[in-house]
Amino acid sequence: VREVQIHPIRHDDPAYSALIGRGILSMALADLEQRYAGRRVFVVTDAHVEAAGHLAALVQDRRVGRYVIEPPGEVSKNMNTVIAILEAMEREKYGRDSVLAALGGGTVGDIGGFVAGIFKRGIPCAQLPTTTVSQADSAVGGKVGVDSALSKNAYGLFRQPARVYVDVTTLATMDERGYRAGLVESVKHALIADEAGFESIEANLEKLLARDEATLEEIAERNLTIKARIVEQDPEEKNLRRVLNYGHTVGHAIESASGFRMLHGESVALGILAAARIAEEIGISDGTAGRRAAAVLRRLGMPEKRPPEVSAAQLAEAMSRDKKSVAAAPRFVLVDRIGHVYRAKDGEYAVPVAPAALAKALEAIRA
Ligand SMILES: NC(=O)c1ccc[n+]([C@@H]2O[C@H](COP(=O)([O-])OP(=O)(O)OC[C@H]3O[C@@H](n4cnc5c(N)ncnc54)[C@H](O)[C@@H]3O)[C@@H](O)[C@H]2O)c1
Ligand SMILES: [Zn+2]
Repeated sequence: VREVQIHPIRHDDPAYSALIGRGILSMALADLEQRYAGRRVFVVTDAHVEAAGHLAALVQDRRVGRYVIEPPGEVSKNMNTVIAILEAMEREKYGRDSVLAALGGGTVGDIGGFVAGIFKRGIPCAQLPTTTVSQADSAVGGKVGVDSALSKNAYGLFRQPARVYVDVTTLATMDERGYRAGLVESVKHALIADEAGFESIEANLEKLLARDEATLEEIAERNLTIKARIVEQDPEEKNLRRVLNYGHTVGHAIESASGFRMLHGESVALGILAAARIAEEIGISDGTAGRRAAAVLRRLGMPEKRPPEVSAAQLAEAMSRDKKSVAAAPRFVLVDRIGHVYRAKDGEYAVPVAPAALAKALEAIRA
């Protein structure tokens, strides 16, 4: 079992660990019960994760309370689900002395972490991520919450988990498209912060696609270390944490303009291609990083062009509504060489980009 230590993020946060291994779901509840002696564990998961056998692997023959989110996915990431879980916990007489275990992908983790943050003014939450997105990204960092009818992640908290268990064997049951798209977050991490990690992805891509467990453990450790080191320094995204949005400015715009037909990771892959093109256009990169990124994303089977129905005007409009825009001008995180984010003279990691350079980048990914 590998262990990544995550240091206190805000002054009142305790440190916590992420454990990474194969088959560690089967020891997670015993480990939690030992760390939180006398507390009752409540498990939140979803119907796909249960059907894939991961709930059974976690609870075995223990009698623990549970809530299975149905239907799985973003449609259930809302306040109705939060209330249903809170009330299920109350009905089963869970009190302040309980622990919540969120077993599933990013939607389960975001919902479960939020429920734990508000149940009886807050109980510890363990994250047990089961997707490529959640194992690389959402399980650590402490952003938890749900969507409103109007926008994504409208309601939530910054609240760190108490412990994270990354069992890479759970990825074996993911569907191929979702599995691959989730790996784009790992490529993103390597591009912004880990040159050796990027070389490892290049060298081990076939093993990664074959879901080789040793390779998955290595990449999980790299991902969580990178995310932790960044979030520790800037928990509330004042500047440095923005580097995690690499590829996401154009990515989010494509994702929403496609009516969510494109998966998040597929959209971010295009966003990375666009950002690489911008870096070249404005003369901060010689293009090497972009070419190597494009080659890896192609081998992952990611799209290289945006869907024909998504126009540049639509994307510009979506980007001007982006939370991170300043005076409607989108800001971009740019990589100047592999493993390194460009920093503007004023110290900002997210830099304004002239419309002409952005237009060229959007043209480069036009079908
Ligand atoms: N909090 C953060 O920092 C952060 C970061 C990135 C993404 N997110 C959020 O995460 C969500 C996306 O995460 P996701 O892609 O993991 O979504 P998800 O949780 O909806 O999982 C995707 C699908 O895979 C299924 N599934 C999960 N694990 C499985 C397994 N092992 N085998 C078979 N099927 C499985 C789920 O039931 C679901 O149908 C979004 O809501 C996004 O906002 C949060
Ligand atoms: Zn993302």
